[in-house]
Amino acid sequence: MSFEDPADPTADAESLTDAPAVGRETTTTRSGTGRTVIDTRNVSVHYGETQALSDITMEIPEGMVTALIGPSGCGKSTFLRCINRMNDLIDTCRVEGELRLYGKNVYDDDVDPVALRRKVGMVFQKPNPFPKSIRENVAYGLEIQGFDGDVDARVEESLKSAALWDEVKDQLDESGLDLSGGQQQRLCIARAIAPDPEVILMDEPASALDPIATSKIEDLIDDLAEEYTVVIVTHNMQQAARISDRTAVFLTGGELVELDDTDSIFENPDSERVENYITGKFG
Ligand SMILES: Nc1ncnc2c1ncn2[C@@H]1O[C@H](COP(=O)(O)OP(=O)(O)OP(=O)(O)O)[C@@H](O)[C@H]1O
Ligand SMILES: [Mg+2]
Repeated sequence: MSFEDPADPTADAESLTDAPAVGRETTTTRSGTGRTVIDTRNVSVHYGETQALSDITMEIPEGMVTALIGPSGCGKSTFLRCINRMNDLIDTCRVEGELRLYGKNVYDDDVDPVALRRKVGMVFQKPNPFPKSIRENVAYGLEIQGFDGDVDARVEESLKSAALWDEVKDQLDESGLDLSGGQQQRLCIARAIAPDPEVILMDEPASALDPIATSKIEDLIDDLAEEYTVVIVTHNMQQAARISDRTAVFLTGGELVELDDTDSIFENPDSERVENYITGKFG
């Protein structure tokens, strides 16, 4: 299977203090599609001699928001970077096990990492627009892809999906770097959306932003989940509780300790270690 082709949505998996620290404000009610987008079997990752992830086996459902939480250094970013093979760019990094996107192991020899990254877009903690115009930032992935459709229409659509169009529609030829931090992050989201991915990975996408910009990003994630599968790392447990449907708790040692519906994780976790973590007793 090639990642050049959009996954067939009809295809089966073969083809590709004691008081809770978290006050829940809203409960998401997305039910997803019932399909699994990503499933991993015994994924372990080392950087040289350092083990960053240990035997991670998990499934990520389609059309939902899955949050990854856990203390610093427990491997959350490493796990995200496994999904779109960004770890390939780190010389010392060794990934073992299987990680499948719609049933296809992304580490198979016939997978093109560049094509994979169009299917699995990524947004980082620090907004990182290119020193190019707003239009060129969004069109960037389309050019690499050899997109032969209407680029301006796709740029507009992506900026609308990223809730940025109204703010920038009259300045598309100005530099992306002249936008505010929150706008830059939405520009990066527009850039990730433009090639029409299946999955959007977000690594603490709001942690460098002020509360208003953060709230815009959270609203945006809610909208994106209607069309995409979102996997988000956050250090903010209230944020995880607000925006995610499923929560995976990683703890020290690069271990996935619990993965469940977000409500269950925050209200009634199975593991005492998870309870201690989310109630702030450690971590
Ligand atoms: N490029 C790298 N080279 C060597 N070791 C690394 C590299 N990136 C991460 N590590 C190590 O892998 C482990 C997991 O790091 P990772 O960045 O995935 O954690 P994290 O959960 O994202 O932490 P944080 O919450 O601080 O972002 C840590 O021990 C870290 O030092
Ligand atoms: Mg990290």
